[in-house]
Amino acid sequence: MKVGILGAGSMGSGIAQVAAQYGHAVILFDTNSAQLDKSKTDLIKTLEKLVEKQKISADESTAIQNRISYSNDMSDFKSCQIIIEAIIENLEIKKTVFSQLESIVSESCILASNTSSLSIASIAAACKISERVIGIHFFNPAPIMPLVEIIPAVQTSESVTKISRELIDSWQKVTVIAKDTPGFIVNRVARPFYGEALKIYEEGVADFATIDWAMTELGGFKMGPFTLMDYIGNDVNYAVTESVFTSFYFDPRYKPSFTQKRHSEAGWFGRKTGRGYYDYGKNAVQPEPTKNKHLGDEILERILVMLINEAVEAVFLNVASAKDVDLAMTKGVNYPKGLLAWANEIGLEKVLDKLDSLYAEYGEDRYRASVLLRRMVKANQVFA
Ligand SMILES: NC(=O)c1ccc[n+]([C@@H]2O[C@H](COP(=O)([O-])OP(=O)(O)OC[C@H]3O[C@@H](n4cnc5c(N)ncnc54)[C@H](O)[C@@H]3O)[C@@H](O)[C@H]2O)c1
Repeated sequence: MKVGILGAGSMGSGIAQVAAQYGHAVILFDTNSAQLDKSKTDLIKTLEKLVEKQKISADESTAIQNRISYSNDMSDFKSCQIIIEAIIENLEIKKTVFSQLESIVSESCILASNTSSLSIASIAAACKISERVIGIHFFNPAPIMPLVEIIPAVQTSESVTKISRELIDSWQKVTVIAKDTPGFIVNRVARPFYGEALKIYEEGVADFATIDWAMTELGGFKMGPFTLMDYIGNDVNYAVTESVFTSFYFDPRYKPSFTQKRHSEAGWFGRKTGRGYYDYGKNAVQPEPTKNKHLGDEILERILVMLINEAVEAVFLNVASAKDVDLAMTKGVNYPKGLLAWANEIGLEKVLDKLDSLYAEYGEDRYRASVLLRRMVKANQVFA
């Protein structure tokens, strides 16, 4: 299969590298020639490092480079069997580009989008042959992160879903099938990791460092929520939260936080601006957490039950299977355990009790337990 990649930014360049590593001829297109040059230079540097670490040979590095053609002429996509789009996250622009693509490629060419948050059905609606459109959502950095969410729209044909999944599987990725709903699996289920942590901070229960300590030391997460938000960028993370909240018709479970909004408005995006929840300046002294086990356990339990509830709800609403939800969170965002397996371990009844007590205390719909969780507790079931 000849693979076309539209957009040579961080995601497009990473996906092009993966496809070329697995032997495909790749056409990497961008309207910005400087971005194409940067992508080429960055790839050479990345491959040099892989050769140094003896992960690939010098010959393989040359072969990978030779497989990628850089182009600013979209008609070069003519001979591709699949195009993966990774341009700016803007629905109107994506729709225009998909419609342009259709006038160039063959009728059987698959058109995929790497969008993190837009509806695949809307993008597909811009095409005459809408059944060829699908979401193929990689995680950043694409060559390293194993997870890829495959998102068929209501219009997508079964054969397009099957071929797309087989292709990405052949690139040694872990694929999961997700329903075309806001945030797909990962960006939906992970929301409480940020949202509940921010709420705990806003209530004055604990500071950033203490919440991060509880989640890493006691919970086993690789990064605490505030360190992670600073890493992702508060501008980006806030925008995703707001988009998910709006898309879910303002369900309070996804309500964004003023703390994050203000950090974003202040330009305190995180690492990339040198200041976020933490100060990344040269001489900055990092705050010490309050290492109180009782407090830490309370923080961990509250965030964890909210995450589990979101995972259960995703299964209940057939966003994905229980197996895929657990795979997505471990392979897409490196959670220490699948949330449903974790729920079994804690005991579903205990998870439900905690959610019910939060609901009773706050009187907020945000804490409503998933109907599936309640049903499973009643029937004394666990997740398979
Ligand atoms: N960055 C992430 O962590 C991440 C993760 C998963 C998915 N995504 C999604 O992938 C897509 C790309 O994100 P990114 O971070 O690589 O962005 P980016 O800004 O790094 O790159 C976008 C590229 O698209 C090009 N571009 C913009 N409009 C174009 C057009 N009309 N025609 C051709 N090229 C055009 C730009 O020149 C740029 O090189 C977005 O839909 C984003 O939501 C991003």
